[in-house]
Amino acid sequence: MGTRLTVPAVRARKVRDGGDPLVMLTAYDAPGARLAADAGVDLLLVGDSVAMVVLGYPDTLGVTIDDMVHHTAAVARGEPDALVVADLPWLSYHVSPRDTICNAARLIRAGAAAVKLEGGKARVPMIEVLVTAEIPVMGHIGLTPQSVHAMGGFRVQGRTAEAAVELVESAKALEHAGCFAIVLEGVPADVAGLVTSAVDVPTIGIGAGPDCDGQVLVYHDVLGLQNDLRPRFVRRYADLAAETVDALSRFASDVRSGAFPSAQESYSMGAEAAAALRLYAS
Ligand code: KIV
Repeated sequence: MGTRLTVPAVRARKVRDGGDPLVMLTAYDAPGARLAADAGVDLLLVGDSVAMVVLGYPDTLGVTIDDMVHHTAAVARGEPDALVVADLPWLSYHVSPRDTICNAARLIRAGAAAVKLEGGKARVPMIEVLVTAEIPVMGHIGLTPQSVHAMGGFRVQGRTAEAAVELVESAKALEHAGCFAIVLEGVPADVAGLVTSAVDVPTIGIGAGPDCDGQVLVYHDVLGLQNDLRPRFVRRYADLAAETVDALSRFASDVRSGAFPSAQESYSMGAEAAAALRLYAS
């Protein structure tokens, strides 16, 4: 077992202060969580991207708090040596402070150490409520997938000077409200750099260039497990979709030809029991 990062240790990890960049990866189940932690990933995000990556929805809006609790518990059961952060799904933190706390508490009880929520200044009251209840909160600004309809699609944000300044203001508001880290998604690299230098908590980028305090990618993208969508910010470190199809077609072909299973892959009875069975069957 290595040493699992804590929320205060993450909060203190600014690259400008000499900290190593944070490595975050999504995880949706126990084996994936274990593999990512074995690879030395610092934080595991049980992302609501589970909606598209695992559950087959077209966007993240279909995923519920029950879905997120189910996947968070699976990740936690893998006992990964990494800090587990779970996404609050759409509408689980928009309705009332009571709902927000109860939903976040379900994720914490399922095994997360912190929750993540999307949005800027408008989220400050709910963040304050959570932090007051001792629930650590990671912010998420820029391209926020839960706002897909409000944004008119999955579009890079902060492309004008005004929008960039608004992002800096939002990041400061989230930090002030008590967020221990902030995900910056889908923003120009220079804007991410500006936001990163404007706050004392770490920023974790996805499609936000190199000037963040860490990077996050989706597990299935890193491993090349899905081929349908490939945004420019994704770097693939394996082509497991091709390897998987190849392995599974060899399995199918062995079943059809009778090459699987072999005698070594089958169980046998003792000689006496086999003889008795032959008598019984004849
Ligand atoms: O749900 C998710 O996977 C995320 C990351 C893309 C940051 O929020």
